[in-house]
Amino acid sequence: MMDLARRVAEAADLVTVALDELLPRAEGPESRLTEAMRYAALGPGKRLRTYFALETGRMLDLDDRHVLRAACALECVHAYSLIHDDLPCMDDDDVRRGRPTVHIAYDEMTAVLAGDALQAVAFEILAHPDTHPDGTVRSELVTRLAVAAGARGMVGGQMIDMLGVREDLGGVARMQRLKTGALITCAFELPLILAHARESERHALIAFAHDLGLAYQIVDDLLDAEGDAAAMGKAAGKDAAAGKTTFVTLLGADAARERLGLLKNQTKSHLDPFGAQAEFLRASVDFVLERRQ
Ligand code: IPE
Ligand code: IPE
Ligand code: MG
Ligand code: MG
Ligand code: MG
Repeated sequence: MMDLARRVAEAADLVTVALDELLPRAEGPESRLTEAMRYAALGPGKRLRTYFALETGRMLDLDDRHVLRAACALECVHAYSLIHDDLPCMDDDDVRRGRPTVHIAYDEMTAVLAGDALQAVAFEILAHPDTHPDGTVRSELVTRLAVAAGARGMVGGQMIDMLGVREDLGGVARMQRLKTGALITCAFELPLILAHARESERHALIAFAHDLGLAYQIVDDLLDAEGDAAAMGKAAGKDAAAGKTTFVTLLGADAARERLGLLKNQTKSHLDPFGAQAEFLRASVDFVLERRQ
């Protein structure tokens, strides 16, 4: 586990340095916007999407440099989703990653615009020839991230979440697949596209990503219900207070944990075809399930 924590931290450093290079610098009258973008995207996130992308790339014999650009794009969309998720009109949160949220550190107008611009820069990064020399590959990357980020992905899931409809278990699973699962799945899809991977490899990794994404959000919901706000760097107890439907509010924490236990082995089993090569991805399942932040 220690080894894995070090690998995740190394991936986080790599993507933060790369993002620092790629994001626009504060200049001119719009510098308030670029500062807010950098504040959100360079902040101390866990960078697990980056970790998944890099490990997948390594397993598929890709050059870290190409995967890193895809990971930067993913982290930009993720950072934008968090800025908007924290806004008063959404979850109304003041703390994220242990620091004031963007609308608190700046203001709401800047937060909305910084989110918008981070989403745009994600596609600018993917579409650049440095990401891949073949334009067809780049256009596939762009399409994949666009679908994952949009109405049939993260934003669609956020809409269902915000509407606060009382969902049943199937409904909650679908919402989570969209709001969290779509971007996590992208962490595997983008390297698969870069590597021209075989269909069998793609199937196995996408199945892994789906179960991992679900486990990820169940842990997030358990942490919201029971976690330590200081360790998480964000508020706890918000879902129940806001009347949100999650696995935890529907089933109770114990049954949600039981479900996670079952999901753990099912998730890992999708990696069987990769044998020892998937060592670090396999271990990341435990890492995700045991995280406290
Ligand atoms: C939080 O994502 C929002 C969810 C999709 C559950 P992370 O837990 O990956 O947040 P950071 O990037 O580490 O701050
Ligand atoms: C947000 O889910 C998922 C996004 C698409 C941003 P949450 O609202 O549960 O995320 P946290 O708990 O604020 O990080
Ligand atoms: Mg939310
Ligand atoms: Mg939230
Ligand atoms: Mg949450």
